[in-house]
Amino acid sequence: MAFLSDTLARVKPSPTIAVTTKAQELKAAGRDIIGLGAGEPDFDTPENIKDAGIRAITDGKTKYTAVDGIPELKKAICAKFKRDNGLEYTPAQVTVGSGGKQVLYNAFMATLNPGDEVVIPAPYWVSYPDMILLAGGEPVIAEATIETNFKLTPDSLEAAITPKTKWLIFNSPSNPTGAAYSAEELKGLTDVLMRHPHVWILTDDMYEHLVFDNFVFATPAQVEPELYDRTLTMNGVSKAYSMTGWRIGYAAGPVALIKAMAKVQSQSTSNPCSISQWAAVEALEGTQEFIRPNQSLFKGRRDLVVAGLNACPGINCAVPEGAFYVYPSIADCIGKTSAGGVEIVDDEAFASALLEEEGVAVVFGAAFGLSPHFRVSYATSNEALTEACARIKRFCEGLG
Ligand SMILES: Cc1ncc(COP(=O)(O)O)c(C=O)c1O
Repeated sequence: MAFLSDTLARVKPSPTIAVTTKAQELKAAGRDIIGLGAGEPDFDTPENIKDAGIRAITDGKTKYTAVDGIPELKKAICAKFKRDNGLEYTPAQVTVGSGGKQVLYNAFMATLNPGDEVVIPAPYWVSYPDMILLAGGEPVIAEATIETNFKLTPDSLEAAITPKTKWLIFNSPSNPTGAAYSAEELKGLTDVLMRHPHVWILTDDMYEHLVFDNFVFATPAQVEPELYDRTLTMNGVSKAYSMTGWRIGYAAGPVALIKAMAKVQSQSTSNPCSISQWAAVEALEGTQEFIRPNQSLFKGRRDLVVAGLNACPGINCAVPEGAFYVYPSIADCIGKTSAGGVEIVDDEAFASALLEEEGVAVVFGAAFGLSPHFRVSYATSNEALTEACARIKRFCEGLG
């Protein structure tokens, strides 16, 4: 349509939302569908956080606030960074937006000029490349395959950096693979970055609290304090506190960058929801008691799904350190034909035939920039996961 902008033409709609929509349509048509596409925890927001939101309403905290966050929340965020990550920030170094997504978008809008490159390790969260394109930058993909447990190696990072590189996006634990870097693995990457002082680091720590087997979470500015002045440390309450609908994300970094991001927000959405901000204060300052039980719940599901998928002929599933996703390879299924007669030419064909023939909704790997794979979100019940694995097994056994 000629009326639409050239910038928009560079962007594609979210494939994860497309899968969810297709699964909902089939469900509405009466089909028995198991959805493994969701990008959110399946438990409710904890009561103390909901109560803080209700209190904010009854106390009349329902007006505009400072554009990038109330002082109380900024203070709570500074305390969180100190407590969990050993990072010292002042409130002037903190920005709050409507979800981690808006914070990332503000950062790109505030910094990217045409031709500026952003290195994105693949597989990546679907929104990174398109946000960068919307902001006028160029995504540069650096692949991290199953051979390195989906972790970027120092050599591949080095190879992706050019004089035009402005940012590296770092995401650990990762959506879509669940892979998380130990402090030692991360040090290998920060050593490379130390040699390239023009490259800034945008670390997306959204899944920080979803790690298993005593894995110790690490973030770049903590591992290499000399990178502090060119790191934007992003996080949010969506995944750790099951607050995806409340829309609160935040970041901390150099004051000049934080101010520039607030300027973008001031002319787009203004402040994030006042009620959600007060609920986020409680999330960060209140009891953290449910984090550990949730970790063991998710670990149990991860183990169930990894074992279930590895029992399927043609599927190879690595054991990730965190998040609530696994990213199995289907390399050995490519070129075969499903029981329903579909030729499995790529991971999109696999996911679509799996949905049609067995009623299991997963997201195909091409959406995340690394094929042939698919992403499973195990943020659902053990019963649903067991049944889904049985159906995937039957589907794979039917490939000939
Ligand atoms: C890696 C990653 N970053 C950021 C986000 C966005 O989080 P929010 O819902 O707070 O915008 C998501 C959500 O799926 C994510 O998976």
